[in-house]
Amino acid sequence: MSHIAYVNGRYLPHSSASVHIEDRGYQFADGVYEVVLVWNGIPVDYGPHIVRLKRSMDELRMKHPMSAEALTVVVREVVRRNLFGTGIVYIQVNRGVAPRAHPFPSADVKPSMVVTAKAFAGSSDAMAEQGAKVVTARDIRWERRDIKSVGLLANALARQGAAEQKAYEALLVKDDGTVTEASASNAWIVTADKTIVTHPTTNAILGGITRETVIKLAKGAGYTVAERAFTLDEARSAKEVFLTGTTTFVMPVTQIDDKPVANGSSGLISLDLRKRYRNYMDSLDAATAWNV
Ligand code: PDD
Repeated sequence: MSHIAYVNGRYLPHSSASVHIEDRGYQFADGVYEVVLVWNGIPVDYGPHIVRLKRSMDELRMKHPMSAEALTVVVREVVRRNLFGTGIVYIQVNRGVAPRAHPFPSADVKPSMVVTAKAFAGSSDAMAEQGAKVVTARDIRWERRDIKSVGLLANALARQGAAEQKAYEALLVKDDGTVTEASASNAWIVTADKTIVTHPTTNAILGGITRETVIKLAKGAGYTVAERAFTLDEARSAKEVFLTGTTTFVMPVTQIDDKPVANGSSGLISLDLRKRYRNYMDSLDAATAWNV
């Protein structure tokens, strides 16, 4: 089956869908995006993803290409035309097409929007049982990581480093030793007293939608959650380490660079949170899941 993409008002075969060479997304990474999981036909946390997309556009003073309601019609249509049960929807909005110049183009330039979708299962339970290896990379990104910008070169470099070392992800570490997050997921530790710790939502990290849901689920289950920065040394000696993200769900980390985390097997709290998150995914209601 050929994939269908939405590009600026048209539904096109994926293979021939394209954007203009002077799109500012291409020249300046002047664009923002979202990745939403569709699980058995039902989107997971769709509303919060669209709220974050709006926030990213507003922080960059980008015009919205359409209302949230219209966007939802497009996203649902792309999902329908690609006919998959479980997969991801990718939404990208760029500032638009204009002759290359650094300042924003004139106000009449329309933002460009692309929506694609593909079948994708997300991280496997088998891998979670076994636990993932991560490597570390210096966090060389800009200071507005809270904006879900398509300027992902530093993330891609870190992730390539992980791939070359046969690791699942790269933890991003600031020069002061703080772990901010990972290249495409949020990072967490469980301390000796079973406190679950993750970086607070400042400009240093992307405020993950999965992170928010996992905080709620963890608190609801009676765990203590602390939103504070932690260092790589703390992570190396933590009881457990795990990652969260739209396609990651909750993924136990059992190795950092060449050293095991604790005894090298997936942490029980991490696995419990994964189970709770998976149950949450299964519990979503088709009738309200597309509400923004
Ligand atoms: N990445 N941090 C970064 C840098 C990310 O790129 C992502 C998501 C997350 C987790 O956020 P969420 O829980 O909202 O997915 C954290 C997406 C999946 C991507 O770029 O493919």
